[in-house]
Amino acid sequence: MEGYEKAEKVLETLQRLPAMSAPVLKVIQLAGDPDASAEELADSIRSEPTLTADVLRVANSAYYGVPGQVTTVRMGVILLGMATIRSLAMMAAAHTWLDQPELHGRRGREMWDHLLTTALYASELARKYAPAFQEEAFCCGLLHDLGKIALMTALGKQYDNTLTAAAQRRMPDVAAERMAFGFDHEAIGLALARKWKLPEMLCDVIGFHHDPRHAEHKRDFVEFVHAADYLYWKQALGENFAPERWPVEEEVAFKFELNDPTWLQYLNEAVEKTKKEFLSALMAA
Ligand SMILES: [Fe+2]
Ligand SMILES: [Fe+2]
Repeated sequence: MEGYEKAEKVLETLQRLPAMSAPVLKVIQLAGDPDASAEELADSIRSEPTLTADVLRVANSAYYGVPGQVTTVRMGVILLGMATIRSLAMMAAAHTWLDQPELHGRRGREMWDHLLTTALYASELARKYAPAFQEEAFCCGLLHDLGKIALMTALGKQYDNTLTAAAQRRMPDVAAERMAFGFDHEAIGLALARKWKLPEMLCDVIGFHHDPRHAEHKRDFVEFVHAADYLYWKQALGENFAPERWPVEEEVAFKFELNDPTWLQYLNEAVEKTKKEFLSALMAA
């Protein structure tokens, strides 16, 4: 991350930023608090209609084995568990951010696919290397590019042009952003995450996923997302993948065995399959 002080100052001057609804933020915070009760969590979910609908829809989907049986948010919270509720709240947040007129179209769709797929790669990696933290890894993947969403919202076309130039010059997005603005999406994302008082692990992931060595508290989660981000681009761009644009730290590649083609193929297939299941659970009536 570079240009944090500048990003923090710029953040104060921006008129348009992704909005975080107070109930959604409260759910994210409560669902990460081991002392919070199911009742407290259900109360804050109920004050956000979209989230209430999501919780009931997912809890009643075939995926959880009791279709049509869950009638209250409290039952949903107990069935799904705190971590899944937190994922749903984060997905609701990400969806709201991306569902604005200036993000309709290619960039918005691309970003949604990127966030969800990166979350699934992070979760698959955690399944093997830190099974107890699978849901956390998923959550971190979902919000890691908060800074990009902030720049898309605030700068629109100007930021779009920056990303296009980065692709044409085959340079990392963060480098193109620094050239254009004097800071990158990690810096502005971290400034925003701190302003919203998001949990420490999320702040770290948002601020350091392109360079996990600088993570301040939760380096493990940052590494999952760093690797997942790389895997997303490698798979999404196929033959056009340029390692100089999406570099992966050697140490991280070694740790997660990212040079093993059999493992990579397994990961790609697992993510594709889970993505289908996940989306159908979310859409289920
Ligand atoms: Fe990023
Ligand atoms: Fe990313």
